[in-house]
Parts: sequence; structure tokens; C-alpha cells
Amino acid sequence: MNITDPAINGYLCKLTPTSHPVLLEMEKYAAKHGFPIIGPLTGRTLQQLVILTGAKRIFEMGSGYGYSAISMALVMRDGGTIECTETDKENIARGRKHAQTARVGKKIIWHEGDALESMQKAKGKYDIIFCDVNKEQYPTALAIAWPKLRRGGIMVTDNVLWSGRVVAQKPPERKTIGIRKFNRMIYALPDALCTLQPLRDGLMLAVKR
Ligand SMILES: C[S@@+](CC[C@H](N)C(=O)[O-])C[C@H]1O[C@@H](n2cnc3c(N)ncnc32)[C@H](O)[C@@H]1O
Repeated sequence: MNITDPAINGYLCKLTPTSHPVLLEMEKYAAKHGFPIIGPLTGRTLQQLVILTGAKRIFEMGSGYGYSAISMALVMRDGGTIECTETDKENIARGRKHAQTARVGKKIIWHEGDALESMQKAKGKYDIIFCDVNKEQYPTALAIAWPKLRRGGIMVTDNVLWSGRVVAQKPPERKTIGIRKFNRMIYALPDALCTLQPLRDGLMLAVKR
């Protein structure tokens, strides 16, 4: 199921200026290898949030080879940090290279291993937490990450409409069950103000009140 009418999606993509050269190279790699990156529409939304919140500390759960992190780093003020988490060594090595080429290497800290474990160990509060891990892990990721978000901060979560499977899949498989549970949980948090943006594959924005 398309979340956005393909004609509207095409219109949005056509309106969007060409990405930064490093991001463009990463987009080409993703297209060639079928790697799931957030892409320019969601990437620019993250950039807007970094600018609006004046984020200095960002934690990313599930970084791949760094497309979303580098998107944010490109607009983040000097002195800010983005902590990336990834299980795959090759993705980390590729991400480090791209970050150097984009001249944002100093802003990015890589944690190799499980994102939820790294989040659990993290000290202090974050301005933005971006969640893009395995979809079965979304409910646990939320339970671990939410206390680490500062008041006024924002948790952003990708793929929350999961190509429409959240409404269409019968019987739902584990990933869909995880996303549905996550969506119910985050809307039920008493200190969260949530909107689910039907952008690309569905983007959850949850501001901590
Ligand atoms: C959808 S991709 C991330 C894409 C990235 N956020 C972007 O848009 O550029 C998900 C990545 O998270 C990693 N991943 C999934 N679950 C993870 C976990 N629990 N801990 C660390 N990495 C994880 C996968 O190896 C994969 O590279």
C-alpha cells in the first residue's frame, strides 16, 4: 500500500533540491544496493527539527551507514554531537568515511553493538532521539529511550506506517505487531504530544512536555 499517492510523492521529490554531494552519493548507493535509508524528504524533516530545537545532543538508534546522522550533522551547530549505533562493522566503516568527506566526522560518535544496550548505558538527556532499529524492538526502544529525552525534546521514529501493513496485514507478523504496539504506547504517554506524519513510510514525532 502506498502511504502517499505516487504522483504526489513524485511531485514532492521533484520540488526538493538536489541533496548535498555526500548525501547524493549515499542515496545512489542505497538505490543500487537496496539499503533502507530515510531519503531526502525525511532527511530534510530531521534537519528542520535539529535547527528548530537547537539540538546539541542527539542519539540515533539504528544508523546504517550514516545517511540520517550526516543529514542532521550538516545543519547541527559546531560543538554538538550525534551518537550513532549500529551492529554492522562495514556500515560503521562506510559511515565514518562519508562523515569525514562531508566534514562532519567530529560531530559523530559511533557505538558498535545493540542500540538499545547503548541507549540504556547513555548518561544525561538528549534533545533529539531518532529511532530506526529493527521494528520488533520499537516498543522496548521506546521504554528505554523516553526517560533519556529532555523536556521539550523530540523523539522521531521512522517506518511507523510500515508500507500500510499497520492497517492491512492480516494476520500481522512480528514487525507489524511491534510497530502497532509502539504507536499505541507512544500516543498513550501522558507527557508526550504526538503526531504521525504520513511522510514516506510514516514518521512519528513525539515532543516531551
Ligand atoms: C533502516 S536502517 C537505518 C538507516 C539509517 N537510519 C538511515 O536512514 O540512514 C537500520 C539499521 O539499523 C541497524 N540495526 C537494526 N537494529 C539494530 C539494533 N538493535 N542495534 C544496532 N543497530 C541496529 C541495522 O543493521 C541497519 O543498518
